[in-house]
Amino acid sequence: MITAERISALREQVRQWRAEGARIGFVPTMGSLHEGHMSLLEAARQRADRVIASVFVNPLQFGPGEDFERYPRTPEDDRRLLADAGCDLMFLPAVAEIYPDNRQSATRVTVKALSEILDGAVRPGHFDGVATVVAKLFGIVQPDLAVFGEKDYQQLAIIRRMTADLDLPVEIVGAPTVRSPDGLAMSSRNRYLSEAERAVAPRIHETLRAVATRIDAGERTFAALEAFGIAELRAARMQPDYFEIRDAQTLYEPARTSRELVILTAARLGKARLIDNLRVALR
Ligand code: PAJ
Repeated sequence: MITAERISALREQVRQWRAEGARIGFVPTMGSLHEGHMSLLEAARQRADRVIASVFVNPLQFGPGEDFERYPRTPEDDRRLLADAGCDLMFLPAVAEIYPDNRQSATRVTVKALSEILDGAVRPGHFDGVATVVAKLFGIVQPDLAVFGEKDYQQLAIIRRMTADLDLPVEIVGAPTVRSPDGLAMSSRNRYLSEAERAVAPRIHETLRAVATRIDAGERTFAALEAFGIAELRAARMQPDYFEIRDAQTLYEPARTSRELVILTAARLGKARLIDNLRVALR
């Protein structure tokens, strides 16, 4: 596996692969890799001849007081995991390579409306930071396809919308959430959990499943179901930021025409803020 720290080195390699007619797959990450990330790499490998993964903790998507400084950084472990998974190139840029001269990029990509709800309402500016860095990474790598996890459901919707709106020639692939056997969605931020917190964290997925089961059984009192979800998480000593039932396509309130719903939640537990979601088809 090649490691590139400079944009110029990455471009040189990509140019060569393209000349050979290779289809390029891309998996953007912030590192501290786990099985969830590895499943995206596998999905990219199945669809592309060459796979590039980026490891970059993007300062632009962290708000003041958030965990940018203490976000886990494990580049050596990441390198080993990526190499073992058959990644062809790891892009590991310094902050100054992506944002030279401390310029925080005068150009920002904002996906209106979608970025302002749910997680965007709790983390103002977060999704602008995500959309901007992903647009930059697409410009740097120029992949044929890029894989994102459904675990970050709103992020995936925003990337799809940005790619469509800007006519970027990148196919966006969504990959299912990878969970621990007890149901907890894998996340780099799970490292922040104490043993006791880790033991209650699966309650998030249990609560999502309980609500999904009730919707599946015909319940349509969404406000009551959302209140139930909030109460369940609080009973597990978490501080939920939201617990919302939305249309899986639009992320707005369920409509008469909705065919599929998604239940989305974010909750703080100790030093960690955990997010998860679950889709339910309507019959
Ligand atoms: P990060 O949190 O490192 O996640 C990188 C990718 O892995 C995202 O597409 C995310 O949805 C996916 N992922 C994380 N946990 C997963 C799980 N348990 N199952 C499946 N996929 C999972 O998301 C980001 O980084 C950043 O915002 C980024 C897109 C790289 C832009 O900076």
